[in-house]
Amino acid sequence: MKVTVLSFGVSLDGFSAGPRQDLQNPLGVGGPALVEWFFNTRVWRQMQGQEGGETGVDNRMAERGFAGIGAWILGRNMFGPVRGPWPDESWNGWWGEEPPYHVPVFVLTHHPRPPLRMKGGTEFHFVTEGMHAALEQAKAAAGTADVRIGGGVSTVRQYLQARLVDELHFALRPVFMGAGEHLWQGLDMRGLGYECAEVVPGERASHVIVRKRGS
Ligand SMILES: NC(=O)c1ccc[n+]([C@@H]2O[C@H](COP(=O)([O-])OP(=O)(O)OC[C@H]3O[C@@H](n4cnc5c(N)ncnc54)[C@H](OP(=O)(O)O)[C@@H]3O)[C@@H](O)[C@H]2O)c1
Repeated sequence: MKVTVLSFGVSLDGFSAGPRQDLQNPLGVGGPALVEWFFNTRVWRQMQGQEGGETGVDNRMAERGFAGIGAWILGRNMFGPVRGPWPDESWNGWWGEEPPYHVPVFVLTHHPRPPLRMKGGTEFHFVTEGMHAALEQAKAAAGTADVRIGGGVSTVRQYLQARLVDELHFALRPVFMGAGEHLWQGLDMRGLGYECAEVVPGERASHVIVRKRGS
């Protein structure tokens, strides 16, 4: 059982989301450039119920991101554009009736909300007791399978800072963002015990595998 961050897009200047996230810009302005490698894969197209898509290295890396995952952890901003107390329970994620998770998903937030059961096995649980409680709950739900920290940026940074991520696969995109949510700022990855294990060149991204020493 591992705690992972997988298929996480990052720009050359270290941003993993663009600025000004909102309903029209879930990844922030310019953010799609970070995940463009994923949008061309067969994995992504299948998730959209479509045929075709590329089957090269990027696709293989995307496939790895969904294998053996027993539970996910997301930050509230990745779950949606609503900020502050939930005005109602109408927002149920970006992903429609049947989200691509198919397992329990623990959403970090300061604003309580009852669990949300979706089609296909995805169940969103809103955790207000903090990141450690979310990880405990995710591990219990996952059993022997892995827990994937899905994002967004603030959530990944917290688990890295606490040295709780065993393995990280980030997709380094050959673009500069200039602004947005920075992944590495103030994080001493070396001091935290992380090192690069492998670099795999893909069609639209370089795939960098980072492991915590001893994992
Ligand atoms: N590059 C990629 O591959 C990738 C992957 C996934 C997502 N993203 C992008 O990342 C962006 C979101 O990242 P983000 O950094 O803005 O936010 P985030 O990590 O998704 O969510 C942050 C929010 O989650 C809640 N939260 C986080 N930690 C908490 C804690 N310990 N206790 C309680 N609540 C906590 C807080 O919400 P409240 O206080 O409001 O409840 C906080 O404002 C989106 O644009 C998304 O599309 C990019």
